[in-house]
Amino acid sequence: MTNAAHITASKLEQTSENASKKPLLGVNVDHVATLRQARGVSYPSPLAAALLCEQAGADGITIHLREDRRHIQDADVYEMAGQLTTRMNLEMAATTEMLEIACQVKPFWVCLVPEKRAELTTEGGLDVAGQLTWLTDYIGQLQAADIKVSLFIDPEDKQIAAAVNCGADAIELHTGAYAEAGLADDIDRMNAELNRIKNAVATARFTDDKLLVNAGHGLTRDNVNAIAQIDGIYELNIGHALIADAVFVGLEQAVIMMKSAMHQSI
Ligand code: PXP
Repeated sequence: MTNAAHITASKLEQTSENASKKPLLGVNVDHVATLRQARGVSYPSPLAAALLCEQAGADGITIHLREDRRHIQDADVYEMAGQLTTRMNLEMAATTEMLEIACQVKPFWVCLVPEKRAELTTEGGLDVAGQLTWLTDYIGQLQAADIKVSLFIDPEDKQIAAAVNCGADAIELHTGAYAEAGLADDIDRMNAELNRIKNAVATARFTDDKLLVNAGHGLTRDNVNAIAQIDGIYELNIGHALIADAVFVGLEQAVIMMKSAMHQSI
């Protein structure tokens, strides 16, 4: 059974309703696969990790099938598609190879990201404005296969307008610059980046109130609250810091702790 087959009508209704509620947590389990690939063995299993995250309250599971297959493998994607009980968000580059895989797997979401082979992680947002024709056609093909499409973009007006123009169902705002400012203890820059993200959420919601606005990258229990409190954020996708927490407290507790950090009021 595909992931799409698990999706009930009520889940679809939740999708548009949740825009004004507490943000959802999508857990990225790529780094469970990173640990496995480091030894070339069969453990730890990203699928088992994803199922534990779901039991602990994750609202969705994100995996990034990179072109170089450095962590998640094709078999992980197919295996998870049949067993997740929430929603799969499949991150991928907008290539012909990935389109074929997505159309077979039919995840609930595809999130299109830019990919550079030499990068440690996804460095910048997708240049949607610069490849509008290609992406409009690409997104149309995914949507024709009943897949919702999100675009990972920097919090810039030009990219938001382009995402709306090419028919995306959601955007995911890149929070990497905000997170990096925090790591550098640069509070002024962190506040400036936070404001940039707040403005981007407001612009996106104003431009198209059906466009869902997600955010992610570099979010931790220490920096997540300010992002989670932004009115209009639908879902946060968090991987590295949550899996790092899990090394000390276990995966289920790490999910519970992240949700609590997101939802506590300041
Ligand atoms: N969202 C997107 C589009 C990403 O590419 C990543 C990293 O794979 C994340 C969220 C999660 O980022 P992090 O692992 O830093 O939490």
